[in-house]
Amino acid sequence: MTTLPKPRQPELKTALPGPKTAAIMERDKQHLSTSYMRPYPFVPDHGEGVWLTDVDGNTMLDFFAGIAVSTTGHAHPHVVKAVQEQVTRFTHVCLTDYPQEITTSLAERMVKHVEKPGEKWRVFFGNSGAEAVEAAVKLARNHTGRSHIISTIGSFHGRTYGAITLTGSKTKYKRGFGPLLPNVSHVPYPNPFRPPLGATAETCGQAVIDHIEGLFQTIIPADEVAAIIIEPMQGEGGYIVPPADFLPKLRALCDRHGIMLIFDEVQAGMGRSGKMYSFQQFEQYGDVQPDIITVAKGIASGMPISAMLAKESVMTWPVGSHGSTYGGNPVAAAAAHATLDLLEGVVTHPGCSDSLMANAAQVGDYIMAELKTMQTEFPFIGDVRGAGLFIGIEFVTPDGSPDGRLRDAASMAMFERGLLNLDCGEAVIRISPPLILTREDAATGLEIMREALRGLK
Ligand SMILES: Cc1ncc(COP(=O)(O)O)c(C=O)c1O
Repeated sequence: MTTLPKPRQPELKTALPGPKTAAIMERDKQHLSTSYMRPYPFVPDHGEGVWLTDVDGNTMLDFFAGIAVSTTGHAHPHVVKAVQEQVTRFTHVCLTDYPQEITTSLAERMVKHVEKPGEKWRVFFGNSGAEAVEAAVKLARNHTGRSHIISTIGSFHGRTYGAITLTGSKTKYKRGFGPLLPNVSHVPYPNPFRPPLGATAETCGQAVIDHIEGLFQTIIPADEVAAIIIEPMQGEGGYIVPPADFLPKLRALCDRHGIMLIFDEVQAGMGRSGKMYSFQQFEQYGDVQPDIITVAKGIASGMPISAMLAKESVMTWPVGSHGSTYGGNPVAAAAAHATLDLLEGVVTHPGCSDSLMANAAQVGDYIMAELKTMQTEFPFIGDVRGAGLFIGIEFVTPDGSPDGRLRDAASMAMFERGLLNLDCGEAVIRISPPLILTREDAATGLEIMREALRGLK
């Protein structure tokens, strides 16, 4: 009889934080920006796959992937090779002025995942999510000749001036930074667990649509609205999945009024939900094709590159009207190609028989089912939601209110047992691991969670 190898476990060699971690944390506190957050004491030294080892030699299981960025895990050999090869050829020329094959082919590859028959899309490359969002808003205004933008409460779109104006998740991002961009309004996000506008889980999508139509009658002339920007699945706001009917209805609303629909896929896109772009989860319920898409984070396994994709009929801004010195950097583009190889299954990852997109769907289903069974043992888990490896766990008080204090305690208890995790929303822990996560490693992470939560009871 063959015995299967025991799944890898976190290895904690020191008390946390270890001495080297504590020393770097202290230097970091002295010299880096006072705006940086430090949810718990962790200083990485190196990584391998879904495992990260800190500077004291403590190895932990990564369930947050640098905020949904490290799609292929840490130091994936296929990505490392692509980056090394490109570095030896050239690292920069400037895409704004000169074409480079590596970004041309990357754009060709990315649009294939969104183009419908008879449709053509184009790509603008930047460096960060916020830069993609800025580009999307500028394009929408330029194309429509209108100025107003509608965003959602709970959203996160980045930290540049345009992007923080659109962001609707926390006032700390805005306090003391005004004046912000004019002509931006926020509407509720249809959260089925906490339905806005007095609606129910089933009716909240329609309620938000009615609310927007109401604004068009009273406050915002619809013919002055350039775009509605929305995360098809909301990230920073709490890993929220809208009801199935919402995005098709939003698409129809935009069509009625000539408004550009921008899907911000920066966090949920690039295969994380089990589809290349998370809005594609909803295609079975109707037309959800946006006009503009923003992506970043997961696109290149941690190398800085972002993209703003738009229908050819929409990308009408003139030559020289927008650009970026580093945007579409060839080294990052090489990492993006390698990441797409794995996402599409052109190259398979050892341990995943299929594409990473398919793996995200399968392992995500498994985690979600396990977490739902955990709700019986832990009544303070009020909601488990998501798609693929984009999963949120919401902590609640006995009366059902969000319990941020308990969430913080749970997050720390998981970290102390060697599970790296990250919060979002008011009382949510997000599970956004590398998409190479196997079922065995997922089971290890879930067991750590159970132990951590038992300690809280
Ligand atoms: C949906 C979404 N859009 C935009 C951004 C901004 O991305 P970046 O931090 O790369 O500017 C983020 C970052 O978390 C995000 O989640």
